[in-house]
Amino acid sequence: MTMVMRVALVGAGRFGALHLHAFRSLPVEVAAVCEPDGERRAAVQEEFGIPAGYGSLDELLERESVDLVDVVSDESTHGELVLKAVEAGCHVFVEKPLSMDPAEAGRIRDRTRARGVQVVTGQISRFGAGYQHLRDVLDRGELGRPVNLRFRRDFSRSWFPAFGRRVHPVWESGVHDIDLAVWYAGAPCREVYAVQRRVSGLEYPDTLVAVLTFANDVVATVESAWLVPDAAPQTLRGSLELDGTIDAVTELLGDRGTAAYRLAHDGLSVRTDTALAQPELTLWPTVAGRVSGALAAELGYAVEVAAGTRGNDVIPLDEAVEGIRIAAAVQRSAEQGVRVTLGT
Ligand SMILES: NC(=O)c1ccc[n+]([C@@H]2O[C@H](COP(=O)([O-])OP(=O)(O)OC[C@H]3O[C@@H](n4cnc5c(N)ncnc54)[C@H](O)[C@@H]3O)[C@@H](O)[C@H]2O)c1
Repeated sequence: MTMVMRVALVGAGRFGALHLHAFRSLPVEVAAVCEPDGERRAAVQEEFGIPAGYGSLDELLERESVDLVDVVSDESTHGELVLKAVEAGCHVFVEKPLSMDPAEAGRIRDRTRARGVQVVTGQISRFGAGYQHLRDVLDRGELGRPVNLRFRRDFSRSWFPAFGRRVHPVWESGVHDIDLAVWYAGAPCREVYAVQRRVSGLEYPDTLVAVLTFANDVVATVESAWLVPDAAPQTLRGSLELDGTIDAVTELLGDRGTAAYRLAHDGLSVRTDTALAQPELTLWPTVAGRVSGALAAELGYAVEVAAGTRGNDVIPLDEAVEGIRIAAAVQRSAEQGVRVTLGT
């Protein structure tokens, strides 16, 4: 008999709803939802037939028996919610970032080991075929010794008001490429220098440039700007509240070869009198009526890891913790205008 895993969703916002769509094609039962906004909670319970709803995770964990807790709430709440779920003996899938505090991320790693559960961080790019291909090319030595890793990830300016008052962009867009840098560099980061600008005048900066130096001398540049104008080709359409653009380019330079990947490209285009769209098909495309792509792959992976049918080898917790250590250093460097050295 196939085991059906009992899942609790924590945070039923834009992305939480997408997770619920993706769960439809996985061997899980979404048994409960935790969402402080009562209207939102009731709406997803009805749409997805979720029997139980709670306003807090404490209450949910007290009353429900679930195998996997799926944390999709605001970035600043992740660490505390993950620790609660781990202490309750649940496996966890947590959207990026794992935490916004390196010390807390370290505690999560330690408590996860002590409790004998699994925590999978939603570093979605590791489940994108293009990014995986780059990793394979590096592993096969086709580029020789990696020298420079370049990452650029730009987002629609019209999306920024939703994030510019909520969280520093290193925890929103930056963590994707910091994680890829960790994955491709294959060594600990030793030094970070970052510069930021507040073009929009909101609380947090909308442009960020960071230089990361790794222990094996690999240098990575991570750039992110929330300045893509509305006239740019739309790459995300119909899946989140607001359509817009993610323009992400990765380049790997080795001493024997180079490789590059662009997340969205002109292989698919839709033209009308008022708009040009070039929808990207890597992250969460709908195929045969189901959310698929990297999002479904990472949630399916988390279910397998939680079931014990595979190890957490795609995004080991140590590497997720290293990403948090780097992201915190990037924020400190950019805010204080200092070079940050990272110890062993
Ligand atoms: N992997 C990706 O590419 C990707 C894309 C979009 C969002 N995300 C991540 O998904 C997460 C959610 O983003 P979103 O855009 O859906 O945000 P959102 O604001 O639409 O939703 C967050 C929800 O969490 C709820 N919430 C807040 N505190 C909570 C708590 N303590 N317990 C339970 N629920 C709580 C809020 O009420 C809200 O409904 C973020 O971590 C974000 O970084 C990842």
